[in-house]
Amino acid sequence: MYGDVKAKLRGLRHVYVQYLGTPSKPLELYTFYNNRECLHCHLGGRSFEENENHTKEAQMLQQIKNNQMSCATTDCHNIVHRVDQLKEQKFWQGWTLNTTLTRLERCLRLAGYLLIVGWLVELVTLHWAHPTAFLFFALLGGSLMGLGILSYLLALVTDTEPSREG
Ligand code: HEC
Repeated sequence: MYGDVKAKLRGLRHVYVQYLGTPSKPLELYTFYNNRECLHCHLGGRSFEENENHTKEAQMLQQIKNNQMSCATTDCHNIVHRVDQLKEQKFWQGWTLNTTLTRLERCLRLAGYLLIVGWLVELVTLHWAHPTAFLFFALLGGSLMGLGILSYLLALVTDTEPSREG
């Protein structure tokens, strides 16, 4: 019985019907069914967006998304998920996790490593009170950072591969 006062009253009615009354046949919803509940999972899915029944008429898909045409109207989905047939359901399995990096990603990662090591060198040599510390600070740390920045910029300007997103 979560919800507002209306929900509480309905809850009471359910208790009454459960013990003293008789349920209406067929069971009916109090309000119209909001397509949002289905779209929450199915929006963007191929089986929804490209289904020929959803695209029979030009405006249909838009009307479903706008809640103008109900998913649950008779002859559409009066039975929604056939849980008894769950085992036979086909699930989308076409994907494999793509872990290979593009050239750009590899270059950016290298630049990142160079900068991190450069920063670490600077950090350590700053706290190291010895004349050679400055040499390390300026030459080693400086060139690592310089290389990091250079490889970052080079990676960006020489990137020719189309990005994965499109
Ligand atoms: C909690 C997530 C979720 C919600 C909410 C949901 N579905 Fe589904 N539905 C799924 C999944 C997962 C599948 C199985 C995978 C598939 O076929 O895309 C599925 C499958 C289906 C199928 C079979 C699709 C096919 O290609 O065989 C239909 C029809 C369907 N849902 C309709 C609905 C309707 C109508 C609603 C709203 C009343 C709804 N679903 C709400 C997750 C959901």
